[in-house]
Amino acid sequence: MALVPVSDMLYKAQKEGYAVGAFNANNMEIIQAIIAAAQLENSPVIMQASQGAISYAGLDFITGMVKIAAEASKVPVALHLDHGTDFDQVVKCIRSGFSSVMYDGSKLPLDENIAMTNKVLEIARPIGVSVEAELGKIGGTEDDIHVSEKEARYTDPEEARYFVAKTGIESLAIAIGTAHGQYKGEPELDFERLAKIKSLIDIPIVLHGSSGVPDEAVKRAIQLGICKVNIDTNIREAFVYTMRKVIQEKPNEIDPRKILGPARDAVVKIIRAKMKVFGSSGKA
Ligand code: G3H
Ligand code: 13P
Ligand code: ZN
Repeated sequence: MALVPVSDMLYKAQKEGYAVGAFNANNMEIIQAIIAAAQLENSPVIMQASQGAISYAGLDFITGMVKIAAEASKVPVALHLDHGTDFDQVVKCIRSGFSSVMYDGSKLPLDENIAMTNKVLEIARPIGVSVEAELGKIGGTEDDIHVSEKEARYTDPEEARYFVAKTGIESLAIAIGTAHGQYKGEPELDFERLAKIKSLIDIPIVLHGSSGVPDEAVKRAIQLGICKVNIDTNIREAFVYTMRKVIQEKPNEIDPRKILGPARDAVVKIIRAKMKVFGSSGKA
């Protein structure tokens, strides 16, 4: 199957009340694991590459591997740029065949975020590439900030309405209490804010920093309008913890395939579990 735009997947998910998982793709084993899980679950899937992934693996390798995976697959696959902050990088990804891009202007003043998002839409829309934008600051778990400061970073519902009206984007990433990386305690999501945002905009809403958010909270967020759930950290954990375990158990093992193979299997397992929670299993 050819790569499909994220928006096609999300509109269906929005209508049917589930979310599509967007999993960060950093190397061949992870890409293979993501596609294997999607096939086993008969689920649509989004593979996303961050700017870090692109500089690690190379844009051509990422695009090439994901296209090969998609072509051999019976389930819909999208290739999405995660947190693109550089316009030229966004253009390169679109030229290279990404079916969707995120332009993350969340660190910019509102009007500049709107202007840059529109600039991306101008080049993406005519060729059917979908665009996700971000409003509010999602940050990392390592950011040492106080609760009051945290709330100031959350997405303002009225601003979200204004932003969508001024851009016409296909999906919006919001900040409601999640963060990238490993949480120290349990994250508390601002469901009231999510419900308010949902009442003001009718496009699919995206949850970033979703690794480590309890399954019940993720399900509730999906009921309240989340249609795309981003997972990276849980994949890193499954991959690296398994590698570490194999190396500890077999310190003389020098065949990388015997270390990376089990790590890949562990990623398949975690992604299948996520797809079940998101409700995307059987929705391909
Ligand atoms: O959004 C953050 C993702 O976990 C990507 O992280 O920039 O280290 O690849 P990265
Ligand atoms: P996690 O770090 O919680 O996996 O979040 C990933 C993400 O939001 C990628 O954009
Ligand atoms: Zn993110």
